[in-house]
Amino acid sequence: MSSTVTVFEVGPRDGLQSRGDMVPTTKKIALIDALSRTGLRKIEATSFVSPRWVPQMADAGEVMAGIVRHEGVTYAALTPNVTGLGRALAAGCGEVAIFASSSDGFSRANLNCSIAESFERFAPVLEEARAAGVPVRGYLSTVIACPFDGPTDPGEVSRWAGRLLEMGCYEVSLGDTIGAGDTEALDWLLDGLLAHTDAERIAGHFHDTAGVAADLVALALDRGVRTFDASVAGLGGCPYAPGAPGNVDTRCVLEVIEAKGFRHGIDLDALARAEAVARAATNAI
Ligand code: HMG
Ligand code: MG
Repeated sequence: MSSTVTVFEVGPRDGLQSRGDMVPTTKKIALIDALSRTGLRKIEATSFVSPRWVPQMADAGEVMAGIVRHEGVTYAALTPNVTGLGRALAAGCGEVAIFASSSDGFSRANLNCSIAESFERFAPVLEEARAAGVPVRGYLSTVIACPFDGPTDPGEVSRWAGRLLEMGCYEVSLGDTIGAGDTEALDWLLDGLLAHTDAERIAGHFHDTAGVAADLVALALDRGVRTFDASVAGLGGCPYAPGAPGNVDTRCVLEVIEAKGFRHGIDLDALARAEAVARAATNAI
């Protein structure tokens, strides 16, 4: 099993999508450029979603056009449908992500359709991305609990995660969207999921409501998961999940990775510079 752990930086997308204020495009570009100098190899730069739904991401094309691309860094974006995929491909994204939910309530709030309908929309996205040679990541939200439907059945998580992988996603990122998880709940979830899924095709995406996200990362590492989503300076939330807090802080994830004896390849001084840019961009200095 790999001794290197991948940190998938989602701050420029998940961190900035639900803010009440609009972070100027130039500041988003400065943040992504600072992150590109840290050694991170995966940066989710933006999302090509409906600007009516998420106005904070309306400048996705300009963001992608303005960044300085570093060799070895993949710049990713969310694409809920073929319209989003077309925009992402035109903007030169190195990979894209579809995002499903394991609860119907959140699916309807976030995508305006049921889980089953969302998978119908994802099928052509995967087909067109495959034809374009662009890898597709799959997110699965509300894996522990849903702000509308309550606790999620782990069986549903296994079912929809399996479907994302069968459809051609190279990996499924498990989203604890509202940060409802504790180690017991995650352990139970992974018991079911890892019985028939390779841990290296699973990523952890933990929002840090209760301050236990570091424990969840540690547990998932013990269970063989080797990719974690994180947000620089802990920025984040989801506009369609009431109460969703920021993602687990990138620095916090790096500390857990080191404590567990794994490598991450991130320059901590460069990360501190990116954190300063993130705080300046969000006026949180
Ligand atoms: P809809 O209203 O059912 O769809 O929204 P529609 O096809 O009727 O489109 C509505 C309007 O948007 C139309 O424009 C479309 O052309 C346009 P109008 O005719 O009204 O002028 N449109 C688009 N424009 C640009 N790019 C597109 C696009 N698609 C449609 N891609 C839809 C359905 C999926 C579009 C909408 O619900 C949507 O955009 N949802 C995205 C919500 C979102 O971004 N949520 C946050 C990300 S998910 C998340 O944070 C969770 C995660 O972090 C994991 C976790 O924490 O669990 C990933
Ligand atoms: Mg999220």
